[in-house]
Amino acid sequence: MRGILLAGGSGSRLQPITRAVSKQLVPVYDKPMVCYPLSTLLLAGIRDVLVITTPHEQEQFVRLLGDGSSLGISITYAAQRSPDGPAQAFLLGADFVAGETVALVLGDNLLYGPGLGSRLRRFSDVDGAAVFSCRVADPTPYGVVELDDAGRPVALGEKAEPPSSCHAVPGLYFYSDDVVDHARELEPSARGELEITDLNRRYLDEGRLQVEELPRGTAWLDIGTVDAMNDASNFVRAVQQRQGIKIGAPEEVAWRMGFIDDDALRTQGEALRASGYGDYLLDLLGA
Ligand code: G1P
Repeated sequence: MRGILLAGGSGSRLQPITRAVSKQLVPVYDKPMVCYPLSTLLLAGIRDVLVITTPHEQEQFVRLLGDGSSLGISITYAAQRSPDGPAQAFLLGADFVAGETVALVLGDNLLYGPGLGSRLRRFSDVDGAAVFSCRVADPTPYGVVELDDAGRPVALGEKAEPPSSCHAVPGLYFYSDDVVDHARELEPSARGELEITDLNRRYLDEGRLQVEELPRGTAWLDIGTVDAMNDASNFVRAVQQRQGIKIGAPEEVAWRMGFIDDDALRTQGEALRASGYGDYLLDLLGA
């Protein structure tokens, strides 16, 4: 399975912070935002990643993530010239998908919880589309799914007011290779975007959309606003300080997944010692 990480967009809801820096590179506590969705893809067992950025911010992502070899994966890049919606990822990434199943993660989504890796790895041979649902207090900013009594999806909505369901759809999606053809048939929505919800609705209409409810113990944070950024930073800090572990450290995930060996983790750790992040990685080797 391949993975697309969408880190384009103008970050308008985070201005003026995003006037000079990509939203997905701003810090969420102790690491750039993009590290969290990248870690999610690694946890799903994905080793072939396409990172989509704006053309002018691509260089900064390359400086941070390089070609992925330090994580034992391949990272390539594509440019999104205008923010035309999440489903555009499959038009920009059509050659990259090349007949494989593919996961799309939005660059401002953080997922954290027990058993997440094995839950995600189950979708590596998805036939159709698979998404999650997650109960939220205010679903209005999100895509939502209406479920029947048996938990099967019956309808999807996007930023509906009033929302038709309290089950929001997080920004992590799994598709079979026909997603590129489906994406090519989409028309821009009223807000001028190729909507991921319209793409998912095609699979729903074909009876090929699976929806899995995230268990209560899973945290899903969408880091789209200044308050959400602050909440996410505080969440990460609270868990990390209390438990002495890190959330969303790609080097750790790559090592635990067996993508890099002890020596490679040691090299990463030694390069990052000044902030304490490196000491954490080195301590993993002794643990
Ligand atoms: C996007 C999707 C929405 C989804 C959300 C998750 O919204 O359109 O369906 O629930 O991401 O973060 P956006 O962030 O573009 O407003």
